[in-house]
Formats: sequence, C-alpha cells, structure tokens
Amino acid sequence: MTPTKQAPLYEGKAKKVYATKDSQSYIVSYKDDATAFNGLKKDTIKKKGELNNRITNLLMQMLHKHAIPTHFIQELSPTDSLVKKLTMFPLEVIVRNFAAGSITKRLGIKEGEKFERPILEFCYKNDALGDPMINTDHILALKLAQAEEIDAISSYALQINTLLSDYFASMGILLVDFKLEFGKDEEGKIILGDEISPDTCRFWDAQTKQKLDKDRFREDLGDVSEAYEIVLQKILAKESK
Ligand code: TMP
Ligand code: ASP
Repeated sequence: MTPTKQAPLYEGKAKKVYATKDSQSYIVSYKDDATAFNGLKKDTIKKKGELNNRITNLLMQMLHKHAIPTHFIQELSPTDSLVKKLTMFPLEVIVRNFAAGSITKRLGIKEGEKFERPILEFCYKNDALGDPMINTDHILALKLAQAEEIDAISSYALQINTLLSDYFASMGILLVDFKLEFGKDEEGKIILGDEISPDTCRFWDAQTKQKLDKDRFREDLGDVSEAYEIVLQKILAKESK
C-alpha cells in the first residue's frame, strides 16, 4: 500500500514534513517556494519542488550505493518522498571546494578560487540567530552533538564530497560547495537527511562556469528552473548509461 500523508508536522522554507501511518517514516513534500538571505528574499519558482525532489532522490540513491546511509526510502510522486524518521542535529554541515558565497565576503577571497583541500564548516541551525557559523567546541559545549557524532558526521561529509565531486565532474559540472544535514535513527545510527539539490549545492558548468543553482535566484540571474532542469537531465543521462 502506498503510504499517505497524515498530520503535517513541520513546514520549512522549501519543504513540508508529514507523519505517515508508520511511526518510523515521514513524507517530505517539496515546495516551489524559494527564499534566500534568511528569508529576506522570497518567490515561487515553477517546478522547483519537483526538480529538487527528483535530484535529491537520485543523488541519495547514488550515495547509498557507495555505503552512505541516507533517509531516502521511496519516491511517491513528483514532489513527495517517503523518508526514514530521524532526530536531526541542529547543524548545517557545509563543504567548500571553490570559493563562493559567504566565504568570499568573510575572508576576502575571490569567487572561483580553488581551495588546496576541502573546507568543512558547521552552522548552528537557528533562524532567529541567522544560522551562525560555529566550531566543534561550540557544538560540544552547547551539547548539539557528541564528539564521536561530530567525527562520524565530518567523515561522512568529506566522503560525500568526494563521491559527489567525482559524480558531477563526470558530467561536466563543478561541485563548488554544498550543505548537508544529518540525524540519528532509533538505534542512534547517523544518517544523511534533508536534501541535496541546486537549492543546497553550488553547481557550475565546468567549461563556461555558468551557475546552475540557487545563486541564479539569489543574484537575480534568471532561468532558475531551467538551470535546475539542466542538472536533473545530466544526472538522468548519466544514470541511463
Ligand atoms: P554560503 O556560501 O551562503 O555560506 O552557502 C554555502 C553552501 O550552503 C551553498 O551551497 C548553499 C548552501 N546553503 C544552504 O543550503 N542553506 C543555507 O541556509 C545557506 C546559508 C547555504
Ligand atoms: N536558505 C536560506 C534562506 O532562506 C539561505 C540561502 O539559501 O541563501 O533564507
């Protein structure tokens, strides 16, 4: 039987989460709403929900094949997916390969500069505070995660970076940076949750450096859903080989 949405549990800026009849799974429904700069800029982008749902699910299945535990269970509709219920860490885990976005302003680095090695950052997920960047001492002192959990999350994030960077490089896309969120299942196992999409990654065409992600919305470059569609079509082409 196809799982169906029960009570709505949570509505975020880009997704809604519903209970299901199974206490161990949720339905995530992707919205066309787009926000940036902590909600200051808002719009709706036609088809964004579908594109992010499909891209996330394809990427999570690729990662699963490479032994990364993810919350993905099943795609239910163009915009909705069944996922494993997790208790999320209130952390955004960011990995950067090339300079873009906030780090260019914070450290005065030119956009596009390649880092000698990937940079791992943590932000405290708290809209009221604007998701401030924190380090592992803050995470431990504030009891947001334990030391072994931070180690596991960091190790997964860097493995995911290698897997995704190689995957996208093979289709002519540079993985500039991205954001992940992790949670724990009932047994305390650390699992990748949330989404991996052009909303949460920076993707550049490797040749032209054209931006194929949410920066098109942040920077008013236009053709937002067209760019997301290019990313989806390249993934589908690779998967059909
Ligand atoms: P940043 O350069 O704005 O710090 O963003 C780094 C990466 O994290 C980029 O790929 C976009 C992603 N990101 C999110 O997914 N959600 C957020 O709220 C922010 C600020 C960034
Ligand atoms: N997701 C964040 C917001 O809504 C920031 C961003 O992605 O730029 O505001």
